[in-house]
Amino acid sequence: MELPDERQKFSTKRLMGKVAVITGGARGIGAATAKVFAQNGAHIVIADILDELGTKLADSIGGRYIHCDVSNETDVESAIQLALSWKGQLDIMFNNAGISGPEGSITNLDMKQLNSLLSINLNGTVHGIKHAARAMIKGGRGGCILCTSSSAALMSGLASHAYSLSKEAIIGLVRTTACELGVHGIRVNCISPHGVPSEMLVTAYRKLLKKVDMKAEEVSEMVAEKGSLLRGRCGSFEDVAQAALFLASEDAGFITAHNLVIDGGYTSASTTKSFIYQ
Ligand SMILES: NC(=O)c1ccc[n+]([C@@H]2O[C@H](COP(=O)([O-])OP(=O)(O)OC[C@H]3O[C@@H](n4cnc5c(N)ncnc54)[C@H](O)[C@@H]3O)[C@@H](O)[C@H]2O)c1
Repeated sequence: MELPDERQKFSTKRLMGKVAVITGGARGIGAATAKVFAQNGAHIVIADILDELGTKLADSIGGRYIHCDVSNETDVESAIQLALSWKGQLDIMFNNAGISGPEGSITNLDMKQLNSLLSINLNGTVHGIKHAARAMIKGGRGGCILCTSSSAALMSGLASHAYSLSKEAIIGLVRTTACELGVHGIRVNCISPHGVPSEMLVTAYRKLLKKVDMKAEEVSEMVAEKGSLLRGRCGSFEDVAQAALFLASEDAGFITAHNLVIDGGYTSASTTKSFIYQ
């Protein structure tokens, strides 16, 4: 297998000419990643259910938007088909769309709500891997599939049972599919963010703390205080987007089946305020 072209390796445009589909790309982590990928020379298809936001963002980065509910396999297939008909190839698939909830005790878990969450977080990711793999194998030029897990897959007590279950399953799915697809030059990796004050996280905090008017800044402060070894700040959209850029680029050409945790060290420590080292 050829080593990456040196010019590409040291270029500031690390995804020059690559074609990427980003699910859940209309806002939050997905939107930040779409911008960073586009700045690095990639052509972006944003696949989301927030049509107005998604279209506006796609227009601003010279990309395309498609309405896509990831729980619907045909929608995901259509998003990939759009990339193929637009640019003739698919190089990067970022399975980022996800939702939180339902909170509460396992003893009261509503199976309909569980299945509804799994249909987006887990089945949506399966749909993305399946159809991206088909396109990439057919294209014969390898590719990169990125999936979004969470710190909640690594530690208990951070999110609902259903959410944690969906995110842990994604890590397993990344490993098994990386094992199959490596022979085609397709790398499959995972990112696990923690505590980024997106709409999803802020909404979850509002519900848990029963504070309907809670602002993103308040959530940031709480996460920065409790949820990071890098005291004074929590993770940002940009932190996650840069990690996704690394994994999508040739800089990560020998990395597959990996789960890159973007958590300021949180999941590696029993406490963020240890006095043992004083
Ligand atoms: N924010 C965090 O701290 C954090 C931590 C760990 C993991 N994550 C994961 O990061 C990913 C992005 O979330 P975010 O924090 O940016 O939240 P967000 O709510 O801002 O973004 C989620 C995006 O997914 C889209 N989406 C939701 N359901 C969809 C569906 N059925 N089909 C297509 N698109 C759909 C939304 O419209 C939105 O654009 C999610 O998978 C989330 O679980 C976030």
